Amino acid sequence: MTRPVHAPAPFPAARLRRLRRTNALRDLAAENRLGVADLIWPVFIRAGDGIEEPIASMPGVSRLSLDRLLPAAEAAHALGITTICLFPYTDQSLRTETCEEAWNPENLTNRAIRMLKANLPGLSVMTDIALDPYNANGHDGFVVGEEIVNDETVEALVKMALAQADAGADILGPSDMMDGRIGAMRLALEGAGHRDVAILSYAAKFASAFYGPFRDAVGASGRLVGDKKTYQVNPANRNEALRCVARDLDEGADMVMVKPGMPYLDICRAVKDGFGVPTFAYQVSGEYAMLQAAAGHGWLQGETVMLESLLCFKRAGCDGILTYFAPAAARVLNG
Ligand code: PBG
Repeated sequence: MTRPVHAPAPFPAARLRRLRRTNALRDLAAENRLGVADLIWPVFIRAGDGIEEPIASMPGVSRLSLDRLLPAAEAAHALGITTICLFPYTDQSLRTETCEEAWNPENLTNRAIRMLKANLPGLSVMTDIALDPYNANGHDGFVVGEEIVNDETVEALVKMALAQADAGADILGPSDMMDGRIGAMRLALEGAGHRDVAILSYAAKFASAFYGPFRDAVGASGRLVGDKKTYQVNPANRNEALRCVARDLDEGADMVMVKPGMPYLDICRAVKDGFGVPTFAYQVSGEYAMLQAAAGHGWLQGETVMLESLLCFKRAGCDGILTYFAPAAARVLNG
C-alpha cells in the first residue's frame, strides 16, 4: 500500500526544489525507473518470405514474415528485451466460422514459436489466445445467431492453449474475456504435463475503441460485426475489473494485465495495491497511434513522450508494459 506522504515542513525549512536542482539529485531521488527488462514487445506476423508490410494506422510498425521475424527478435533480445508477444495476420482464406486454424499445430503462430525457441531459447515467447484472427466475423468467440457463446469458445481456447504450449510458448496470454477460460486452461495444461507454462491473463480488458489500429493490423477491422461489449468490461467499471482480476488469479493466472493502459492507470494502481501480484499494462495500438501521429506532425516530442508514457506505468504500479515502442525505447534506455 502507498503510505501517506510526509507533510512538508513550512517554508523555508522545506524547499522541495532542492532535490530537483541537478540531474544527479533528480536521479538519486527518483521513485520509479523504467528499464529495458520491463518491456514486452508485441509483434505482428504474416505468411510469406522477405515481407515487411507497414501498417498505415501504426506508423513504424510492420507485419513481418517469419524470416524477418527472426532477425528482429534477435535484435530485440540483444537490446535486453526479455519477451516478445506474437499476433498473427491470418490469411483471409483460413478465416472461418469454426476457427479450426486457431489450434492447428502448424499455424503461423505455432511455427513462429518453434522457430524462435529453437534459435533464441533465452527470449521468452508470449502468445495471444482468442479466436479473432481466425474468425470469419472478427469476434474473440464463436458466434451463434446474435450471441458470442461462452462455454463452446472456452473449449476451443483450451485447444489453442495446448497447441501453443506444445510448440514451446513460455507465456500464454488469453485476451478473449470469456468466463472460466483461465481455470479450464490451467487444468488442461497440468493434465498435458505443461506445468510450468505461465499464464498472463488479460484480466481487466475493457471494451475500448483504442484497439482500432490493432484490428487493422490483424485484418479483423473489416470483418467485425457489432462490438465486443458483451464480453469486454465496460470502461465505466472499476469494481468489475477488480473482480475479473480476483477471479483469474483464483483460477490459476500467474500474472495479470490491464488493457488499455494510459486511460486506465487508476485500475493498474488498484490491481497492484489490492493483489500484490505481477501486474502489466498494455499500451495498446490506439495509444501508440496517437503518440506517433502527434510526434509525426511535430506537435509532441516523440522520444520524450514515449519514455514519459512508459515511466508513468511504473509509477502506477505496473511491473511491466506491453508496448509497440519496446525496441525504440530500449535503444534510448541503453543510450
Ligand atoms: C484480440 C486482441 C485485441 C488486442 C489484443 N488482443 C483486440 C480486441 O480485443 O479487439 C488489442 C491490442 C491493441 O490494440 O494493441 N483478442
